[in-house]
Amino acid sequence: MSVVETVVVAVWLMLPAYVPNNAAVLFGGGTPVDFGREWRGSRVLGDGKTWRGGAAGVTAGVALALVQTFAVVEGFLPDSLSFLPAFEPLAALGLALGAILGDMGASFVKRRTGRERGAPFPGVDQLDFVVGAFVVTAILASEWFFEVFTVEVVVAVLVLTPALHVITNFIAYRLGLKDEPW
Ligand code: CTP
Ligand code: MG
Repeated sequence: MSVVETVVVAVWLMLPAYVPNNAAVLFGGGTPVDFGREWRGSRVLGDGKTWRGGAAGVTAGVALALVQTFAVVEGFLPDSLSFLPAFEPLAALGLALGAILGDMGASFVKRRTGRERGAPFPGVDQLDFVVGAFVVTAILASEWFFEVFTVEVVVAVLVLTPALHVITNFIAYRLGLKDEPW
């Protein structure tokens, strides 16, 4: 694969892990996942992680993977993009659910390290959902995961994601959807 193809595959494969965050920001709110409970003097996850946001995120990610798979299987993509893979059902779920769980895992660590809701945690904020998506997908759809996520694609994801994340969060902040630009 050429570098450009590798980058295109990386973004394509990660789209179902990227949209859950945005859907959670758009549709989140209501009951927090930790039901307001504290552990060792601070919130388990905090008010920024809600059931509705998580459910919206997983739904959006899986729905997008379905649309992408439909495009591949039905031949809706141009011939020049014939190298793009389809998503197995468990891969779609793994990417979306893993992204949401990774984000919650980061909030858990943030609360344990004295960071209030919304406090920045450079590096972690940009890659928590990537690590979550990789781990959960590798567990739920191992064969698919190791076939499509070659070393080159994983490197491309790790390089591209922080940049894409910074850009989309800045846009969400300027649109008034997020309280902080991270
Ligand atoms: N959100 C949600 N449910 C989730 C994830 C996000 O409702 N599972 C919503 C919340 O309104 C949250 C916003 O999306 O405030 C932004 O998400 P994020 O930056 O991940 O949360 P923070 O508020 O910054 O909280 P934390 O410090 O725990 O990351
Ligand atoms: Mg945040």
